[in-house]
Formats: sequence, structure tokens, C-alpha cells
Amino acid sequence: MGTKAQEIVRLNVEELVEQLNRALADEWLAFYQYWIAAQVAVGRQAKRVAEELKRIAMEELEHAEELATRITQLGGRPLTDPRQWFEKTNCTYVEPPQDPKDLDKIVRDTIEAERCAIEVYRKLVELTAGKDPVTYQLALHILEEELEHEDTFENLL
Ligand SMILES: [Fe+2]
Ligand SMILES: [Fe+2]
Repeated sequence: MGTKAQEIVRLNVEELVEQLNRALADEWLAFYQYWIAAQVAVGRQAKRVAEELKRIAMEELEHAEELATRITQLGGRPLTDPRQWFEKTNCTYVEPPQDPKDLDKIVRDTIEAERCAIEVYRKLVELTAGKDPVTYQLALHILEEELEHEDTFENLL
């Protein structure tokens, strides 16, 4: 990271990178949770639910990329081993229900994941406000998208 870029971060960078890596773990687990649920879902409304799950899964992947970029800008190293996802996650991972027709459960689990993500980014916004404008802007941008995701999934219930 450039000298001036480092100077303007008035936070413990190591701790900030740790929080960003935790969020990165959440994003990957959310991506896979939604993507795999879209693959296995069956039933009358399954197509519509699967389309939304896949669309939003791709947005979670974008969040992962944005976080990894910021982590490297800060001189940190994004998690490189998927086994770390379960150690670091704030929001954990929920497998699709055994009954692939249980779309209600799939959508409810997704809403839980979104609410957890909202809390994660709300805290990041709070942590970085006035201290790291670049990470602040990123956290705010992702927070806005997580709010939209919660709304989208609530509308599928
Ligand atoms: Fe996300
Ligand atoms: Fe989301």
C-alpha cells in the first residue's frame, strides 16, 4: 500500500484486515449456500426462487472480490484456504433442507444470512466512519446491496 494511502487509515490495519477477512468468509459461504440451493430446489415456485438465488449468489461473489481487493490494498492477505471460511465466518453456513421442495426453508435460511450480513456491514461502516474513507465507502455500498437482498428474499415468502 502507498505511504499516503496508509497514512489516511486511522485504524489498526491488522484488525481491520481481520474483520474484512471474516466478511470475505461470509460472502463465500453465502455464495455457495445460495448457489447450491438453486441447484437442488424443486417444486412449483422453484424456478423463480432459483433464479433469484443464482442472481444474488453472483452479487455475493462480487462482494468477495471487492473485499479481497481492499484487503490487498491494505497490505493484507485474503483468506487463501477454504477451510478458513468456517473458522472465520460471522454468519455460518446452512445446508439446503433434505426435502428439496421445502422452498420456504431455503428462503428463510437465506433471509437469516442476509440479516447477519447486514449486521456485519453495519458494524464495518461504524468502525471505519471518519477513519478509513475507502473501506467505509465499500462497506456502505455492500450494506446497501445486502438490504436489497433481504427485501428481495422477503418478497419470495
Ligand atoms: Fe454479500
Ligand atoms: Fe446478500
